[in-house]
Amino acid sequence: MKKIIALLLACMLMVTCFAGCGGNDFTTVKEGKLIMATNAYFQPYEYYDGDKIVGIDAEIAAAIAEKLGLELEIQDMAFDSIITAVSEGSVDFGLAGMTITEDRLKDVDFSISYATGVQSIIVPENSAIKTVDDLYADGAAYKVGVQLGTTGDIYATDDFGDELVTSFTTGNEAVNALLGGDVDCVIIDNEPAKAFVANNTGLKILDTSYADEDYAACIKKGNDALREAIDNAIEELIADGTIDIIVDKYIK
Ligand code: ARG
Repeated sequence: MKKIIALLLACMLMVTCFAGCGGNDFTTVKEGKLIMATNAYFQPYEYYDGDKIVGIDAEIAAAIAEKLGLELEIQDMAFDSIITAVSEGSVDFGLAGMTITEDRLKDVDFSISYATGVQSIIVPENSAIKTVDDLYADGAAYKVGVQLGTTGDIYATDDFGDELVTSFTTGNEAVNALLGGDVDCVIIDNEPAKAFVANNTGLKILDTSYADEDYAACIKKGNDALREAIDNAIEELIADGTIDIIVDKYIK
């Protein structure tokens, strides 16, 4: 009897293992690893603390990797290289406060969303720009700084044209241009915007926001097995409160 029970238990364990633990039905770029592409100049989602990349996305990625039984490796690159790296398959996924957009969906697949974002407008404290509408006013020709390849860049270029929009490699460079008077405002995600305003004097964020969006992980097109595994992990991390705890740690 004991033997039969033991055998039954062993069988059950095997079945659950095939479905979940260890027996992943996807392969990753490097065996045993989950390689994430990001752009680590985007506090509080990803940024350097010494030579370590920390932040909301870094911690969520570590939690996802743990669920998949893999070791997380983070590769820092220009934001507009992430989708290329993911679609070429040199990394497993991208996690970078990245917004789901129709255009990006042509090149990559997205996981379920794990956070919402807002595009905010940073201006000098004494700016003539008081609300978002001022940017669209008749005869207005405000110079806008953005981070290259971000939704801020894409939407602002659409709305105000190439001549008025300058794209910088990092949000930090855009903010420096604002401090130096080379641009009149910076359009960037709200949380990094808050960090930039806190770390510099004389800047503020407009009360009205420019766009609302959803952040998700991007995965190579058609890699459904990995996408589903990441979706399941995110779902569990939302349900058990882990994502809330991580977010609360970085956003007070
Ligand atoms: N949410 C914006 C986008 O998807 C900006 C993200 C920038 N992320 C970063 N890690 N620099 O375009």
